[in-house]
Amino acid sequence: MMAFSLDTLVRENIRTMEKYASARDEFSGTAAIFLDANENSAGSATRKKMNRYPDPLQQRLRKKIAVNKAVDPVDKVFLGNGSDEAIDLLVRAFCEPGRDSLMIMPPTYGMYRVCAAVNDVNVLQVPLRDDFSLDTEKIISQASKHRPKLIFICSPNNPSGNLFDTKDIEKILSGTESLVLVDEAYIDFSDAVSWNQRIDAFPNLVVIQTFSKAWGMAGLRLGMAFAAPGIIEIMNKIKYPYNVSDLTAEAALKALKDGSRKQRIVRKVKKERAWLTERLRELPAVEKVFPTDANFFLLRVNNAKAVYRYLRSEGIVVRDRSGQMHCGNCLRITVGTRRENRILLKKLNAYSGERNP
Ligand SMILES: Cc1ncc(COP(=O)(O)O)c(C=O)c1O
Repeated sequence: MMAFSLDTLVRENIRTMEKYASARDEFSGTAAIFLDANENSAGSATRKKMNRYPDPLQQRLRKKIAVNKAVDPVDKVFLGNGSDEAIDLLVRAFCEPGRDSLMIMPPTYGMYRVCAAVNDVNVLQVPLRDDFSLDTEKIISQASKHRPKLIFICSPNNPSGNLFDTKDIEKILSGTESLVLVDEAYIDFSDAVSWNQRIDAFPNLVVIQTFSKAWGMAGLRLGMAFAAPGIIEIMNKIKYPYNVSDLTAEAALKALKDGSRKQRIVRKVKKERAWLTERLRELPAVEKVFPTDANFFLLRVNNAKAVYRYLRSEGIVVRDRSGQMHCGNCLRITVGTRRENRILLKKLNAYSGERNP
C-alpha cells in the first residue's frame, strides 16, 4: 500500500476554510419556538407543509442508508443531489483549477470529463483495453508519473456495461496515492459485492452509488458516497447547506422501509435483460451484443448512425455511442419494459439498411 495523505491531497483553501454555519447547524437541540432561520412562520403556499429548512446533515436518512448498505457508522455516508453532486464536489475539493489533473479510462461516463472542464482540471486518459478491461499497469505507471488527484473507475462501466476485475481495482487502490472513485451507479444490477464494504481497508477509496437506477428514482435526485469519515467531512463542508430536500428524504425513507419493492423491480429488469439478450443476438442487424452487468446493452451494428436514425424515425430513442473509444458502430440501449422491448426487437428486425441515405 502506498502512503496516502488526505491533508496533502485536498486543496489547501478547502482544508483551511471555515464552513458555512447555517442556523440549523448552530442550534441542534429542541425548542418551542424557532425564529432563527428566516423561514415563513405563517405556513407554506402548498398544502404540504414545507416552510422549514431540512436537516443540513440528513442524519435520519443517512442512518437508514448506513444500515441498509451495511456501512456503519453514519459518518462514512454522504448524500447529495444525485451522484453527480458527489462527483462534482470531489473534483472541486481535490483538484486545483489550472494545475491538477484527474484520470479517466475511456470509454466511460461523460460527467467526469465535464466536471473536469468546468473546474479547469486536466484530464489524463488511460483507455480501456479493446475488451473493455482496465489497463492496470498503465494506470499505475501513469498515476505515479502524473500524480492525478482523482482516478475514476466506473464499475459496471457506462457505456460498455461490464464490471471490472476485483484484483485490478485492488492493485490500483494499493498502487497509487490518488483518491480512487469507484462509481457503482449500476452495481445492483450485477451480482457483485459493493466496494463500499472495503472502505475501511482502503483509505483512498470513495464509492459512489445512486437512487436513480436500481431504486428507480431518477426523478428524486439522490446520490450517495461512501468513504472514510475524513473524506465525507470534506464533502459535507463544501456542499450547499440544504442539498437534500425534505421531500427527497421522505421519499427515500419510504423506499428504504419497503426494500422488497426495489428487489422486485431489479429482478424484473434482470429477467428482461436476459430475455432481450437472447433475442438481440438473433437479429441480422446486430453484429455483437456485449455482455452486461447493468440495465443497458452496448450493441454493435453495421452502421450505428443509420440504425440510430431509423429507430428515431420509428419513435425509439437510443444512445449513439459510436464516437467513443472502442465503440465503433455501437449503440447503447436501455432495457425497457416487455412491451417496449418487443417493439424495439420488431423494428430492429424490420431494419434493412438506410432507406434515405
Ligand atoms: C456511471 C454513472 N454515474 C453516475 C450517474 C449519475 O447518476 P445520478 O442520477 O445519481 O446523478 C450516471 C447516470 O447516468 C451514470 O451512468
